[in-house]
Amino acid sequence: MSNIQSVMHENRVFNPSDEFVAQANVSGMAAYQALCQEAARDYTGFWARLARETLQWKKPFTKILDESRAPFYKWFEDGELNVSYNCLDAHLATEADKTALIFEADDGTVTKINYRDLHARVCQFANGLKSRGIRKGDRVIIYMPMSIEAVIAMQGCARIGAIHSVVFGGFSSKSLYERITDAQACAVITADAQLRGGRVMPLKSAVDEAFSLGCCDTVRSVIVYRRAACDIAWNDNNIWWHDLIANQSSECEPEWVEAEHPLFILYTSGSTGKPKGVQHSSAGYLLGVMLSMQWVFDYKADDVFWCTADVGWITGHSYVTYGPLAMGATQVIFEGIPTYPDAGRFWKMIQQHKVTTFYTAPTAIRSLIKLGGELPKQYDLSSLRLLGSVGEPINPEAWMWYYNTVGGGRCPIVDTWWQTETGCHMIAPLPGAMSIKPGTCTLPLPGIQAAIVNEAGEEVHDQHGGFLVIKRPFPSQIRNIWGDEERYRKSYFPEEMHGAYLAGDSARRDIDGYFWIMGRIDDVLNVSGHRLGTMEIESALAANPLVAEAAVVGRPHEIKGEAVVAFVVLKGPRPDDPEKAREIAETLRNWVGTEIGAIAKPDEIRLGENLPKTRSGKIMRRLLRAIARGEEITQDVSTLENPAILEQLKNAVK
Ligand code: WTA
Repeated sequence: MSNIQSVMHENRVFNPSDEFVAQANVSGMAAYQALCQEAARDYTGFWARLARETLQWKKPFTKILDESRAPFYKWFEDGELNVSYNCLDAHLATEADKTALIFEADDGTVTKINYRDLHARVCQFANGLKSRGIRKGDRVIIYMPMSIEAVIAMQGCARIGAIHSVVFGGFSSKSLYERITDAQACAVITADAQLRGGRVMPLKSAVDEAFSLGCCDTVRSVIVYRRAACDIAWNDNNIWWHDLIANQSSECEPEWVEAEHPLFILYTSGSTGKPKGVQHSSAGYLLGVMLSMQWVFDYKADDVFWCTADVGWITGHSYVTYGPLAMGATQVIFEGIPTYPDAGRFWKMIQQHKVTTFYTAPTAIRSLIKLGGELPKQYDLSSLRLLGSVGEPINPEAWMWYYNTVGGGRCPIVDTWWQTETGCHMIAPLPGAMSIKPGTCTLPLPGIQAAIVNEAGEEVHDQHGGFLVIKRPFPSQIRNIWGDEERYRKSYFPEEMHGAYLAGDSARRDIDGYFWIMGRIDDVLNVSGHRLGTMEIESALAANPLVAEAAVVGRPHEIKGEAVVAFVVLKGPRPDDPEKAREIAETLRNWVGTEIGAIAKPDEIRLGENLPKTRSGKIMRRLLRAIARGEEITQDVSTLENPAILEQLKNAVK
């Protein structure tokens, strides 16, 4: 313990209760180690056993892992299955009446749907998609609010083998346009509007705007779900959701697809201006999400599971649409926001729906502490048995509050490290097996060979920081960047890593071997748990006619984790009048909102006559970071071409 303290300054260790351990799916450290040893003894045999026991196959596989075209790995290649079948039909014989989804709308209205009805509605919708000529392998964009229909849309695509690409409703029409064209989508599924925090926010108009931005002529159908009954424009290729499904049969034979058939593409930020279309497989992905439901969420048939993520993010794919349904779980989905009508909304919902497993992001926890740290005490949260955290490191204060005030000191917290690219949890506690400490995601899941290496790809020893890698391929991992094999190879399997998957995070291990995530090693920011590329925001700013040049960095933010700070050089003169400067900054903020989406709007824009550059013209970002953080510049500035610029940027109006 004293060692841990000296290394990590965090010496609090929490053990699961005997009661929790006794009922856990993986009970005790020895059981966890036995799984790890099984994987170490026979790596592919381990995954093959789990794939046979966990998934329902139409045609069993005989091949396990093909590494011949590494890093383009293939798992269970000659097997055939259907993901929607595994999520729905698989439960009909025994659990047809079980509630699948408890949907709570923004205004508090609750709608429940059981597995039988969900199956029927997915089939109807899948038949509707087929009636529009949508077939296996076609790409379908989903741009929808959190709703039962969003889940149906995703499952409907999976049922017919169409590849969905969900675009978060907070992204702008421009971002939508880029994704439609990159994926060459043949259909867009959207809603007239979304309701959040008592406000109606249009969605369909963003789709129309996306079309006006350029040629989206691959799109033959825009399917519109009526959510808000507001006025919208109407075009020839538009069809109402309710008209599409009218008269469609509630039976639809699933399209049996090969294990490697792409289930979905999900765009995420990387270190260039262009988002990456992360492509996932069918079988390997589903296996990963199902195993992590059992191992990390300790899933039990009578759980009421609630993951608060939007289906626009990977967390919503894996732990709303696919994982819980594949397990036959009852889960809550929520349309609104945690602070409406007040900051007690989550706690009220946990009480009302008797939630047992609650999974959210540190940014939400921090904002709820700030807006109503005492509010959880007003609700009966005794149904909870497990808490989870995802998206960014959770700071010890937030962890302790979550543990004591929300979990009543009774519920283990699973701090889950993973990424869009990994598909499911990679490093996270198995809550009945290991002790937990605030701020660490603990140990890798069985079979996941996580390690920390230096720049040459050599493993560094405990307590040293380095790059986080995963040494062996695993079933749920990314298969490709849509249409860009070269970028896939370069981003995740650079030569120095000798074939290991490079996660893009730095990390270190403590004396117990626990992993502590230190942050991104690339130009990716993590704002409120959302990934944003600094280059993406820079190119958005540079596209504005007022802007000559822009550089974007992150700075720590109390609630959001990181805030976006932009340094901008205008084409015209830098305004002397602070009011004028603020006005321009506001215009540029809104511009980023339209180019990317509101989540990417810089918190701060500083106008300068130039940016700090080396003599060779390279922007010195570390200096910009120091300025953004309000730190004294102690670094060497001798290579700086224009030192006076630092003072100007420091004093610039924000
Ligand atoms: C960060 C979200 C610390 C990390 C599932 C990673 C975390 C990026 C954690 C992926 C965690 C995610 N502790 N950092 N428990 N979980 N991250 O693709 O930097 O949206 O690389 O996937 O979030 O973000 P993504």
